Amino acid sequence: MNMKSKSVLRIGILGLGKMGEALVQGIQASAKKSSYSLAATTRSANTATEATKRLGIPCYCDNQKLSKESDILILAVKPQQAKAVLQEIQGSLAESKTIISICASLTTEELREWSGGRASVIRAMPNTPALVGEGMTVLCAARGAAKESLAIAEELMACVGRVSLLDESLMDAATGLSGCGPAFIYLVIEALSEAGVKVGLSRKTSTLLAAQTLLGSAKMVLDRDVHPAQLKDEVTTPAGCTIDGLMALEEGKLRVTLIKAVLASTKRSKSLRESK
Ligand SMILES: NC(=O)c1ccc[n+]([C@@H]2O[C@H](COP(=O)([O-])OP(=O)(O)OC[C@H]3O[C@@H](n4cnc5c(N)ncnc54)[C@H](OP(=O)(O)O)[C@@H]3O)[C@@H](O)[C@H]2O)c1
Repeated sequence: MNMKSKSVLRIGILGLGKMGEALVQGIQASAKKSSYSLAATTRSANTATEATKRLGIPCYCDNQKLSKESDILILAVKPQQAKAVLQEIQGSLAESKTIISICASLTTEELREWSGGRASVIRAMPNTPALVGEGMTVLCAARGAAKESLAIAEELMACVGRVSLLDESLMDAATGLSGCGPAFIYLVIEALSEAGVKVGLSRKTSTLLAAQTLLGSAKMVLDRDVHPAQLKDEVTTPAGCTIDGLMALEEGKLRVTLIKAVLASTKRSKSLRESK
C-alpha cells in the first residue's frame, strides 16, 4: 500500500444511511477535504438519486463499481447486510485497498473472511453524536492490516469527533461505555430537566440548562485533562450548596448505578456477539 504517493484518496462509502451521511458531511467540512474524493452506494436507486442531490457526491447502486474505483471503502450498511456486500465486492479487493467497517459487533476476523483476506481491514465503533461532529470512535486493526490503513481510518473518523485506538478484546467494553453511553446521558439530562421544572424553571429553560451544563462539564474534563474528581472538588465549597446535592447523589447511589449500566451493556454486547 502506498497511499502517501496519491494526491487524492478515493473514499467509497458502502451504504449511505445516517452514519454514512454523517461521515460524508464530516469529511466535506474538514480542513483536509481536498485530499479526498467521495462516492457512495445505497440499495435503492431513489435513495441514491436523492443523496447525490443533497450531498453533491456520486451515489449509485453498484457496489462492485464503487469498490473498483475506491482506495478506501467505508462499510456502513447494517451489520446483517455486511456479509453479502463484502462477498459481492470480494473480487475487486486487492492488498492496496482498505476496508473500514463501522458495523456494530462484526469482528475483524469475520470482516477479513467475508472480504477475501487481501485488503487491510479496520474495525471502527462510532457513536451517534458523530451526527453533530462530536462522536467518539474506537478503532482496531485486523491482523495483517497496514499501518497506513489504521492512520487513514484515524484521520477519517476524526472528521466526526474524537478517536481512540483499542485492542479488539476491548470493543465490547467500548460498546458498553461510548456506544451505549449517549442513551445513559440523555436519561441524566432528562432527569436534570425534570428537577429544574420541579424547582420552578420552564421545561425549555430547564432542558437548556441541563444539556449545556453537561456539555460544558465534559469540555472542562477534556480540555483541562485533569481527573473529574479534582474539578468536582473545585466547585464544592465548604458548607455550600453543591455538597448537599452531592450527598443526595451518593445516597441515591448514582456512581454505582452508572457503573452497573456500563457493565450490563458490555455484557450484552459480548453475549450478542457470541450468540451469532
Ligand atoms: N446509527 C448509529 O447510531 C450507529 C452507531 C454506531 C455504529 N453504527 C453502524 O453503522 C452502520 C449503519 O447504520 P445506520 O444507522 O447508518 O443504518 P441505515 O440508516 O439503515 O443505513 C443503511 C444504509 O445501507 C444501505 N444499504 C443496504 N443494503 C445495501 C447494499 N446491499 N448495498 C449498498 N448499500 C446498502 C441503505 O440503502 P437504502 O436506504 O437504499 O436501503 C442505507 O443507505 C450499521 O452497521 C451500524 O451498526 C450505527
